[in-house]
Amino acid sequence: MRHLRVVAARHGGPDVLEVIEEEVPEPGPGEVRVKLLAAGVAFGDIMWQTGKVPGSPKPPYTPGYDLVGTVDRLGPGTTGFDEGQRVMGLINYGGYAEHVCAPSDKLVAVPDDLDPSILACLPLNYLTAYQLFRRVGKLERGKRVLVHGAAGGLGSAALDVGRLLELEMYGTASAPKHELVTSLGATAIDYRSEDFVERINDLTGNGVDLVIDHIGGAHLARSFATLRPGGRLIMTSSYASVRGEQSTAQALLGMLRVGLWNALPNRRSAQLFDIVALNKKHPEWYREDLLALTGFLAEGKLKPVIAERFPLDQARQAQERVLAAEARGKVILIPQLGA
Ligand SMILES: NC(=O)c1ccc[n+]([C@@H]2O[C@H](COP(=O)([O-])OP(=O)(O)OC[C@H]3O[C@@H](n4cnc5c(N)ncnc54)[C@H](OP(=O)(O)O)[C@@H]3O)[C@@H](O)[C@H]2O)c1
Repeated sequence: MRHLRVVAARHGGPDVLEVIEEEVPEPGPGEVRVKLLAAGVAFGDIMWQTGKVPGSPKPPYTPGYDLVGTVDRLGPGTTGFDEGQRVMGLINYGGYAEHVCAPSDKLVAVPDDLDPSILACLPLNYLTAYQLFRRVGKLERGKRVLVHGAAGGLGSAALDVGRLLELEMYGTASAPKHELVTSLGATAIDYRSEDFVERINDLTGNGVDLVIDHIGGAHLARSFATLRPGGRLIMTSSYASVRGEQSTAQALLGMLRVGLWNALPNRRSAQLFDIVALNKKHPEWYREDLLALTGFLAEGKLKPVIAERFPLDQARQAQERVLAAEARGKVILIPQLGA
């Protein structure tokens, strides 16, 4: 049987993606072959493709952090799943393919009656948001958060989870995306025309309890300035340097500053966050939290925002939308439109 798979042929942007047709792979020991229903497209996929991020896979490889699909075949010795069962998982790369051989410990079973594209929002963005707020920040109801890029994939997920946890939320975004930010329960701040540090100070009086900063570099110091005493800055990425808006040196300096702020006695803390590293350290949280999020979704307590669905063979166009910051919510790849 043959299938389509997207390959990042070399280091670079969306233009390095190629679609190949090949024999469907056989699952190895401990693996499950999943027939794709939906795969997420993330800015993180593009970051890894650049090859500038430590630990990124060597080309040629298939990008795709997260996927939802149907169990198609079990590898030798693999247990815990049945053929035909619906699953989702955060596999870090490999999701952009019609059939994916994934380690069984990265998959969780999900109900058949939930939309696969909606479910595909959970493994990367919703899990990151949930673990940032619950596991790392230990935020209780009423705590204040500032989410940058609040209308993006991770940003919109963070607001949806924050609404569930009844947090007081502020979100930066470009003006055309404010309606979405407001509809998710946050106060929108236009980072292009307003000074977000001043705005947060005016709106809250003494700052926020937690700020999520994916921009990196010099932006981190401004995020740190929005914290109230006891507050925490969490750096998730160096987005601006990948988009060429800051140099690699500025991004590295930003990371060093995070370490320095944490070491200095300033009644505020700062740290880096990586969902992949946290999953490795706490595999039990991974399963527990993904199942909790699936439950909230089934109960109608979460409303993931899909920006657009692209057929798999248009992965390049899908990534271009994300890189250009044109998407509102999460971009999804599906095997074929209407499937
Ligand atoms: N560390 C982790 O574990 C982890 C997990 C998930 C994601 N991430 C990181 O999170 C970031 C977002 O990923 P994504 O997939 O959600 O990307 P995305 O959908 O493209 O969202 C990024 C958003 O940032 C906004 N933005 C751009 N410049 C901004 C600025 N200066 N201030 C505020 N907002 C700005 C963009 O729209 P507008 O400019 O139009 O508002 C866009 O909506 C990536 O860098 C990714 O690597 C990290």
